[in-house]
Amino acid sequence: MRLRSWWNTAVEAMAFAAILVVGAKGVSAQTIAATPPMGWNSWNHFHRNIDDKTVRAQADAMVSSGMRDAGYVYVNIDDTWEGQRDSQGNIQTNSKFPDMKALADYVHSKGLKLGIYSSPGDKTCAGYEGSLGHEAQDAATYAAWGIDYLKYDLCGLRTQLKAASAPEAAHQMMVDAYIKMRDALRKTGRPIVYSLCQYGNDAVWRWGADVGGNLWRTTGDITDKYDRMTEIGFGQAGLARYAAPGHWNDPDMLEVGNGGMNPEEYRQHMSLWAILAAPLLAGNDLTTMAPETVAILTNREVIAIDQDSLGKQGDRVTAEGPLEIWAKPLADGSKAVGVFNRHATSLSIAVDFKQLGFRKSVQVRDIWQAKDLGTMSNAYVVPVPPHGVILLRVK
Ligand code: GLA
Repeated sequence: MRLRSWWNTAVEAMAFAAILVVGAKGVSAQTIAATPPMGWNSWNHFHRNIDDKTVRAQADAMVSSGMRDAGYVYVNIDDTWEGQRDSQGNIQTNSKFPDMKALADYVHSKGLKLGIYSSPGDKTCAGYEGSLGHEAQDAATYAAWGIDYLKYDLCGLRTQLKAASAPEAAHQMMVDAYIKMRDALRKTGRPIVYSLCQYGNDAVWRWGADVGGNLWRTTGDITDKYDRMTEIGFGQAGLARYAAPGHWNDPDMLEVGNGGMNPEEYRQHMSLWAILAAPLLAGNDLTTMAPETVAILTNREVIAIDQDSLGKQGDRVTAEGPLEIWAKPLADGSKAVGVFNRHATSLSIAVDFKQLGFRKSVQVRDIWQAKDLGTMSNAYVVPVPPHGVILLRVK
């Protein structure tokens, strides 16, 4: 018994030492975004009307709604928290955020993490203070506050990029700006998720991982409209090979629950983002969610598709006008299959499992209905509601 407890202690000590060694070398991107980041961001719903009190309320609601237990963890403050710099050039919060460290402590006490926002330019998109020339200082400030996530939004740097001598020079300037903040974040020793936001310029998916991005926006801003959501979501075809554990394509934050789409459309939105292995950052007011919104955002089986450990993004398999079938390979050898209807009336479609790469009969589960459909050997003919989705798990 004694020997055993001595041995256990020794093993624990060795494991702890190993963690310290890894920590000393710096936390790898793989460790901090092994699956697409999940959480909430203030911009889509609150825009500039965000403050300490509201962020705390969102953190509370993330817990009470069951979202935290479903996997949501980051509480991200977007633009408009920034104040002036002090005489030493340290960034300060404005009056809406009296004490960022205290806010981080509060969010952490709930088992959640806090995210913040800045720009590689001198100004952010909303015209607040950016990080240009203060990168190391800002990263150190974020680390001291206890920040866990940084969205770094190109905006202000566009003036400089426009003045560059050639497109190549502008590209290099942008890449250098992202590398500069990557290095600054790494130097803090704190694991901070690095989110690149530059709207997909210069095919960021080809170089986003090289500049340290854990995720990179592939498009301009989403809005709470079906047309914009589908333009962005279905426009991700072909990007799958650029995503992997540690670095993800980001088709922008969720609009689920903001009121501009109906539940069918929001289910399509959520299903498509899950097949895309997209970061799941809710963009609604978590304190006033209808049960239907909670049900969409916390569906465990949908989240499991997004967060699958294989880390492969799904892609389009076929399109027939407004009918599209997308598939995502999963770690257990099954596939998530999204059957999407972009038309405003119901349409039926035959899902051909051979075309999806299955040679024998398959077992099929309808995810939103939470129902096993049994074994199928031929095509599955199914009506898809207007702007709706049938999400399957096929094995
Ligand atoms: C840009 C980004 C948005 C948001 C705003 C804030 O438009 O793409 O996601 O961060 O800036 O000003």
